[in-house]
Amino acid sequence: MCGIVAYIGHRDAFDIIVKGLKRLEYRGYDSAGVALMNGDLRVYKSQGKVSDLEAISEGKDRSGSTGMGHTRWATHGAPNNENAHPHVSQSGDISIIHNGIIENYATLKEGLIQRGHNFSSDTDTEVLVHLVEDIMDHSKLSFADAVRSALKQVIGAYAIVILSKNHPEHLIAARKGSPLVIGIGDGRGEYFFASDATPIVEYTKKVIYLKDGEIAIVENQEMIIKTIENVVQTPYIQELEMNLEQLEKGGYPHFMLKEIYEQPKSIFDSYRGRFDSATGEFHMRSIEEFGAKLKDIKRLILVGCGTSWHAGLVAEYLFEDFARLPVEVEYASEFRYRNPVLYSDDLVLAISQSGETADTLAAMDLAKRKSATVFGVCNVVGSSIPRLSDAGAYTHAGPEIGVASTKAFTSQVTVLTLLALGIAKLRGAMSIDKIAGVMQELEQIPEKIEKALSLNDEIVKLSEKYKDSRNFLYLGRGYNFPVALEGALKLKEISYIHAEGYPAAEMKHGPIALIDENMPVVVVATNSEHYEKVVSNIQEVKARKGVVIALVSEGNRMLDGLVDHVLEVPETIEPLSPLVNTIPLQLLSYHIAVMRDCNVDQPRNLAKSVTVE
Ligand code: F6R
Repeated sequence: MCGIVAYIGHRDAFDIIVKGLKRLEYRGYDSAGVALMNGDLRVYKSQGKVSDLEAISEGKDRSGSTGMGHTRWATHGAPNNENAHPHVSQSGDISIIHNGIIENYATLKEGLIQRGHNFSSDTDTEVLVHLVEDIMDHSKLSFADAVRSALKQVIGAYAIVILSKNHPEHLIAARKGSPLVIGIGDGRGEYFFASDATPIVEYTKKVIYLKDGEIAIVENQEMIIKTIENVVQTPYIQELEMNLEQLEKGGYPHFMLKEIYEQPKSIFDSYRGRFDSATGEFHMRSIEEFGAKLKDIKRLILVGCGTSWHAGLVAEYLFEDFARLPVEVEYASEFRYRNPVLYSDDLVLAISQSGETADTLAAMDLAKRKSATVFGVCNVVGSSIPRLSDAGAYTHAGPEIGVASTKAFTSQVTVLTLLALGIAKLRGAMSIDKIAGVMQELEQIPEKIEKALSLNDEIVKLSEKYKDSRNFLYLGRGYNFPVALEGALKLKEISYIHAEGYPAAEMKHGPIALIDENMPVVVVATNSEHYEKVVSNIQEVKARKGVVIALVSEGNRMLDGLVDHVLEVPETIEPLSPLVNTIPLQLLSYHIAVMRDCNVDQPRNLAKSVTVE
């Protein structure tokens, strides 16, 4: 949700900002803008992509070694030039970029209009920069103190960067609820600011994750971090684990395809070193340090959004089967506004790739206030969700840039499998031998995924055939019901074809009415205890002339005469089958979207990190 990049130092700011915005474009791509300082303050902005911004600023003065840029995902106000960031104050001397939502902007705006301010956009952000100037005009506060004072009046979430023409040696940044990372440059007063570390990693590995309620003030080459209440903080400087190759496409046409193909490795990285088969021990901080607590929890509540919620649904089966623990899976956006009954022996586990999803964070916050133990399973190191968690586990999938989540999902399922086994062990719900058996099978999964990826050519042909379909249905049962949901979500979000995922048996309670000869139905029919039942569901579809694409276990030829297409995937134990079965569905959605000329990595209306509710 909106990407921020800013720079103060001695290099050419424009190049750093534009390169950084391109890395952050997955966060939003409605419009982009930049502000540069070099004696004066110049703002260029444009509806559309960062490349449009480059085009409109071509030939203009792009000099300056201090500047900031923004890529927008519209919340308040349509995606157009006026609403693009940066926004400037009444005099044009102060400029701001912002990620988040100022909830009380209407009240603040009304007061400012009464004091003679005119606004040129519909955004909440413009109000904040006018407020800073208004405070400076009517007080003797310094620039930094005026920003602090303005932020104290704000209700809502923000990550901001502010520049002032009259304070050329300053750059001020602050955060509350929206992420902001600071890169520490070469020691000559050089600092990088960004919504995540991806624009920073090629310049420095030393970063500070600004905490909620903190403000960073760069002045005369020195940076000081304070709370909004003016208490000076000692920041923790962290070493980035990420490297540059992880942020490039590596020869693939799209990040999504690269990330699909990375899954043998990302899954391996998710379980690597976390289980010792010789001792039967799990090496995960959450299991080791919270063992006593986990042994006694009475209920597990999994919260997440979108694909992460689907990983939670798979985990429901895992925790019930392995740990014999009652489980509930909740959309974070619903959970946060209910009045859930929570006890101190409940474990609430938040699942998130980005670690910044606003609804998931709010759900965690609620659970904490109601005294539950809160864990996080998250991909982005140092993001807000792990910081809010009592413990948890990183997925170690590496940066996921494609907006549609692929490798993050399979890594989440992998880590949730480890946690389910670890808790099963603590609770005595499974023998060490059984746990070791599942782990042995998990170690086979990367190879099985390699095999599943080799279905690519067959899937290209299928995609060619069905790319113009208007609707798709995905069916699965048990562990593969969430796989059906995930397959449908992948297709609709990147190809804009309507798709629904359903538990196969539920079809006859409604969706069966949709089935005719134009409806492709993707059925997960790999070997499981429900196999025969799934075959009956396929019969029901065929009886209505539906087109069936069946995913079956390798070597199963029994459906050959019955269904229209068979995709054979390597067999594994049922609890791990979602890891393998998801792969062909990801490839199907990818190829269909490419054939329909859709922007696979940046689907319309979406953003990678949903930091607004
Ligand atoms: C779908 C997708 C989204 C995210 C959802 C949660 O492909 O990417 O549905 O899964 O926005 O995001 P995180 O996992 O970052 O909390």
